[in-house]
Amino acid sequence: MINKIVLAGGCFWGIEAFFRQLDGVIEVISGYANSKIKKPSYLEVKTQRTGAVEAVEITYDDSVVSLSKIFDYLFKIIDVTAVDHQGGDYGTSYRSGIYFQNEAEQELALTKIKQEQARHSEKIAVEVVPLDNFYLAEDYHQDYLNKNPDGYCHINLERIDEKDKKIDKQKVYEQILLVLDGLLDRKLPALSMMANLTALLKEHFTTFSWVGFYYTNEHELYLGPFQGKVACETIAFNRGVCGHAFSEQKAIIVKDVHAFPGHIACDSGSNSEIVLPLFNKHDKIIGVLDVDSYRYANFDHIDELYLTRVLDKLKEYLD
Ligand code: SME
Repeated sequence: MINKIVLAGGCFWGIEAFFRQLDGVIEVISGYANSKIKKPSYLEVKTQRTGAVEAVEITYDDSVVSLSKIFDYLFKIIDVTAVDHQGGDYGTSYRSGIYFQNEAEQELALTKIKQEQARHSEKIAVEVVPLDNFYLAEDYHQDYLNKNPDGYCHINLERIDEKDKKIDKQKVYEQILLVLDGLLDRKLPALSMMANLTALLKEHFTTFSWVGFYYTNEHELYLGPFQGKVACETIAFNRGVCGHAFSEQKAIIVKDVHAFPGHIACDSGSNSEIVLPLFNKHDKIIGVLDVDSYRYANFDHIDELYLTRVLDKLKEYLD
């Protein structure tokens, strides 16, 4: 399931950048938590008079990363005994904390704090309090260290275990594009290349549960080469994610298929998907490429960008 937790550990730039690397984390936004005034600005928070704390809201898939692991990393990257201070910043807006929204989160946080306390002689300063409010910080604070790689960062971003890191999708896609060049061959029927392409994609991404093509026969979409579980053989143009991507001739990214009206669940385990229109060399739409995942929110603009590049290469071979 997709969940959210709000945490603080000093300047939000570094905390946001750190948690963005963690596998299972879908989104991290920087903001101000538990403010006494509505919509505080950065400068107002810095006065230390709003009661607000620089914090991040982490959206995560709990089937991939547990809340317990998120807390472990928070404790690992900050000074858990520092009061109103982290790195070069001092003041209540730089206090550390876990801001819970239900009893289960509170209980887990208190248990983890107790365990952490056993490792320190000084008192743990991470507060565990209910989340009263969370206001989005100004745009320039979002993804700050990505936009400003030399910006101030009090967090050692390397303190993440390799096994917990998100895969570098771009690197994998670059590899796929290289291999694809070797697979495309004018002497082969298009079907053979498409069959191999589905295998190539599924082989490179363990998070892809189903990869396949649907073609059009002018009346509906019908199943083409694919890798994965047995799937629906036909899809009407006005049905499912595939039908919509085909009719609207645009890529559709569905972060949670259960929330997409009319989604066709060929595999009940699927939780997110991306569907892209498939064009031939005359720029006529002839079908779609559908990729599914058991993970929530597995696809984003990077998948769209690279899968479009993959299909652009393929289309030269399609009549
Ligand atoms: N989920 C798709 C149907 C195809 S299967 O996922 C393989 C859709 O809603 O169009």
